Amino acid sequence: MRLTYKEKKTQKKVDDIDFVASHTPVMVQEVLNFLSPFSGAVFLDTTLGGGGHSELILDAIQPSGVLVGCDRDRDAINICKDKLKDYGNAIRIHHSNFTNIKKILKNEKIDYVDGIIFDLGFSSIQMDNPKRGFSVRSEDFLDMRMDVTSSLKASEIVNKMSENEIADIIFEYGEEKKSRRIAREIVKYRSKKEIVTCEELSNIVLRAIKRDSNTFFRIHPATKTFQALRIFVNNELESLKIALSEAVDVLRPGGRIVVISFHSLEDRIVKNYFRSESKKETPLLKVLTKKVIRPAHKEVQINPRARSSRLRVSERLGRV
Ligand SMILES: C[S@@+](CC[C@H](N)C(=O)[O-])C[C@H]1O[C@@H](n2cnc3c(N)ncnc32)[C@H](O)[C@@H]1O
Repeated sequence: MRLTYKEKKTQKKVDDIDFVASHTPVMVQEVLNFLSPFSGAVFLDTTLGGGGHSELILDAIQPSGVLVGCDRDRDAINICKDKLKDYGNAIRIHHSNFTNIKKILKNEKIDYVDGIIFDLGFSSIQMDNPKRGFSVRSEDFLDMRMDVTSSLKASEIVNKMSENEIADIIFEYGEEKKSRRIAREIVKYRSKKEIVTCEELSNIVLRAIKRDSNTFFRIHPATKTFQALRIFVNNELESLKIALSEAVDVLRPGGRIVVISFHSLEDRIVKNYFRSESKKETPLLKVLTKKVIRPAHKEVQINPRARSSRLRVSERLGRV
């Protein structure tokens, strides 16, 4: 990829940044109330992130409990290895997609767990890191891979796919009504110059929907387009479907599965999966959250990124 002078300067700036990572876990009290971790229990955190939920669970399951955690992001793994090192053998960390839950537990010689948490999407650590290219408002390179060893970057979608394919992705995974207009503007722009940065793409979206970049937006108009690309790059919805069914198979009867999602596409998958498993002739799950749980107003004031979070919980049925 040939970079312009400005893009080379951005790359240098990005390489020079000493990034300080942190993520505030959402709805912690609700998570702990539903999971009710107890001393000696075995838990699974499928999305370690900054280790916030894991740390609280680890405190509650000591002295003899075990928490198995995974994340597909190598940075999250390194942060958690350091942050949770004092828990010694009580924490077992795996760099893996959560589609491999059964394989991970088999490696740990664990058949069943007492509780599972999924805290979906991406963390502030990923969002705020200028090297990862997730943010709408920055000069980051358009990347968006949670696992940097995977091959497809967001920049390849917008620069290589056809106008129709791009429009379909933005519509399906961003639920963006103006997807056709945005795709047209992307293709027009790239005929003159490759799209390299997040900022470039944000401006293309603004142009497509005729908005001014100087306006203040509570939610940036390119957010849905960025969400769509991120979901597609990371195959997020398919991974979630696979992981939910693996999770239910390894959950001990009486154990609970808590899922926090951040947009309606994920939440719909969770809601439908819980419902269908609870309506079977021999149901595997009992749904504990008839209505989705949203964060308290106070939490959103302190941590605005909690704003779109929604939590659902089910309990595993069957004989112990
Ligand atoms: C919202 S953060 C989790 C934050 C965490 N609960 C905490 O308290 O810090 C979501 C994390 O899930 C990870 N993730 C997303 N999809 C994943 C997948 N399919 N497999 C494994 N990890 C995934 C992301 O890399 C990110 O680190």
